Amino acid sequence: MSRRIPKSREPDTDTPSVEKTVVIGDVSLDQALRPSKWADYIGQEHIKNNLHVLLTAAKERGHLPEHILFYGPPGLGKTTLSYLIAKETGAQIKVTSGPAIEKVGDLASVLTNLSPGDILFIDEIHRLNKTVEEVLYPAMEAGSIDIIIGKGPSARTVQLELPPFTLIAATTRIALLSAPLRSRFSGGVYRLEFYTNEEISRIIKRSAKILGIDIDTEASGEIARRSRFTPRTANYLLKRCRDYAQINKKEISLAMVLEALKLLNIDSMGLTITDRQILETIIHKFSGGPVGLSTIAAATSEEEATLEEVNEPYLMQMGLLERTARGRAVTRLAYEHLSLQVPEGLQEKLL
Ligand code: ADE
Repeated sequence: MSRRIPKSREPDTDTPSVEKTVVIGDVSLDQALRPSKWADYIGQEHIKNNLHVLLTAAKERGHLPEHILFYGPPGLGKTTLSYLIAKETGAQIKVTSGPAIEKVGDLASVLTNLSPGDILFIDEIHRLNKTVEEVLYPAMEAGSIDIIIGKGPSARTVQLELPPFTLIAATTRIALLSAPLRSRFSGGVYRLEFYTNEEISRIIKRSAKILGIDIDTEASGEIARRSRFTPRTANYLLKRCRDYAQINKKEISLAMVLEALKLLNIDSMGLTITDRQILETIIHKFSGGPVGLSTIAAATSEEEATLEEVNEPYLMQMGLLERTARGRAVTRLAYEHLSLQVPEGLQEKLL
C-alpha cells in the first residue's frame, strides 16, 4: 500500500479541517476550551516534541504519519492531541470508539468509508473485541482487509484494498491491549503524564479568558491544586466556580472558590467523596490493607475499572495509596489527611 499523501490534499495552515466551534453556548463550551493550535496546548512537552519530529519527517517525505497510540488516565488530552495532529497534517479526522465497533462488518464499513489520507481516531481501543482486533492488524500493516462473503461451502474470502490512512488510538488501559496490537503502532506509543500545578494554572487562566471570567492568581491556583493534575477536571471546576459566582452575584475570589469547592465536596487535596470513601474503606474494613482491587470495588459499590482508571492513579500520585504485591494499601499520609490515628508499625507492614 502506498502511504503517500494524496495530491489533492495540501497541509492546512489556518483553517481547521475539523469542525470549528463558532458559538460558545453550553453544549460547545468544552470544545471551545480545547486548544486548536499547538501553541495553545500547554504541557506534555515530551510528546509534543516527538510528534513534531514524526509529523515533520513524514511530511518532508510526502508520506502519511504512521499509526499512533496514546494512553494514560482520562482527561489528560488524548483526543485533543489527535485533533491537533489532524489539523497539522491537513487530514480529515473520523472518530469512533472500541465499544461502537461491535462486529467485523462495523470495522470494515468504517475502514472502507475512509478517504485517502484520513485519520481514523479510535477511542477506548482496549474495548475492541478479539475478532475485530484481528481484522485491524492487516488493515494497519498492509492496508487491506480480508472479509468472508457467504456461508458454508460456498463461502469465499475477498481481499479489500483500503485507502491509505493513519490510525490514532487512545486508551486508559494499556495493559488490556495485546502485544501484537501494541506493536503495530509504528509511529509510537505515547504515555500522557499528569500535568504540574503550574501547567494547570496556565490552562485555567487560558480557559477563564475564553469564558470571559476574571480570575486572580490566588483563585486559579486554588482550583489548580484541587484539579487532580488534569485539564478536564480543572475546566470542570472553573465552570462550577463561575456558576457559583453568578448565582451569588459575587466576583471569583479565593474565598468564593473555597465555598464553591466545599459545596462540590472537593477537599484540600482535590479528593472527591469516592476517593475518601476508598481510603476510609481500606482503613476501617481492611486495617489499612493490603487488599485486592475487586474487594475494594465490592465494598465501595464502585466499578473496578473506574477505581483503576480514575481514582487509583490520582491517589497514588498524591502518595495516599500504594500498590503492593498483595494488593492496595493506604499510606501514613492517608491517615493524616483523614485526621485518623496512624497505627503503630505501619511502615513495616507495607514493606
Ligand atoms: N485544555 C484542555 N487541555 C489543555 C491543554 N493541554 N492546554 C491548554 N488548554 C487545554
